[in-house]
Amino acid sequence: MALTIGVDVGGTKIAYGVVDEHGAILERGLRHSPAGSPEKMALTIADAVTELAARHSVEAVGIGAAGFVDETRSIIRFAPNLAWREEPLREKVGELVGLPVVVENDANAMAWGEYRFGAGRGESHVVCVTVGTGIGGGIVLGGELYRGRWGMGAELGHMQAVPGGRACGCGNSGCWERYASGSALLMEARNNAQADPAGAAHLLRLGGSVEGIQGEHVTEAARQGDRAALAAFESLAGWLAQGLADMAAVLDPGCFIIGGGVSGAADLFVDRVREEFAARLTGRGHRPLAEIRVAEMGPAAGLVGAGDLARLR
Ligand code: BGC
Ligand code: NA
Ligand code: ZN
Repeated sequence: MALTIGVDVGGTKIAYGVVDEHGAILERGLRHSPAGSPEKMALTIADAVTELAARHSVEAVGIGAAGFVDETRSIIRFAPNLAWREEPLREKVGELVGLPVVVENDANAMAWGEYRFGAGRGESHVVCVTVGTGIGGGIVLGGELYRGRWGMGAELGHMQAVPGGRACGCGNSGCWERYASGSALLMEARNNAQADPAGAAHLLRLGGSVEGIQGEHVTEAARQGDRAALAAFESLAGWLAQGLADMAAVLDPGCFIIGGGVSGAADLFVDRVREEFAARLTGRGHRPLAEIRVAEMGPAAGLVGAGDLARLR
């Protein structure tokens, strides 16, 4: 049985686990992410890996990280929402754990996990969008993960959605992830609550104040029928649908998968995304509609995908 360790490194948490060739997780763990310090981050990842490697016979480690990873799958060159700049993570962790390591973009890893073992099973052309702090993208074409020439393909969150729009962590402005991410959802909900407190009674009760409103409050309030929260989800759906329609114009996938933290609340927006996608798609009426599915594997997709990619390295 070939086992690997998959690690999914995010801004707040590091999820890791021992993964087998069927995508099953044999043992898993969760640590707090020291996101501000690349040094501590490498040490924490290595420590987590060492802990699991002591109890299982593993052949390699795959790390999914939220940034632009080079084509050798070694260096995180840049991370719009984290502190990594030209970070040789593969080398650092590899030296500490004494196992082969591959570094993958987090959304690529997640897309691979869902393609192999989740919502994308049986499809050959899949575009995955992770909706969280930012927007991540993962593209599987003809059964292969598409990485681009330098490893940095599928950075879907940084397509420009609005010329001269909101400033993005990548240094540009108007990026898609500033409108269709979890952070955008929260910002929208707070703006709505500010503009129309009467329509935001649930939101304001949960948050205590406009600034106190947190991501989970938006979901909870929307479920209670809060007008401001529902409007934020509607806006998110519109932005998502437009991006998917644009991706369909370029890649014509058989299915899209919506994952990431916000996909836990997919029942609040995915039907709307489907409708808006169908209404905006170029050539509509003369082409099949790609399916829009919700990710099935939850927060495990990233670490399972990273582990599987390490096995196939
Ligand atoms: C980053 C991507 C990452 C995504 C999701 C984006 O801001 O540019 O590399 O995959 O966030 O974490
Ligand atoms: Na990606
Ligand atoms: Zn950007």
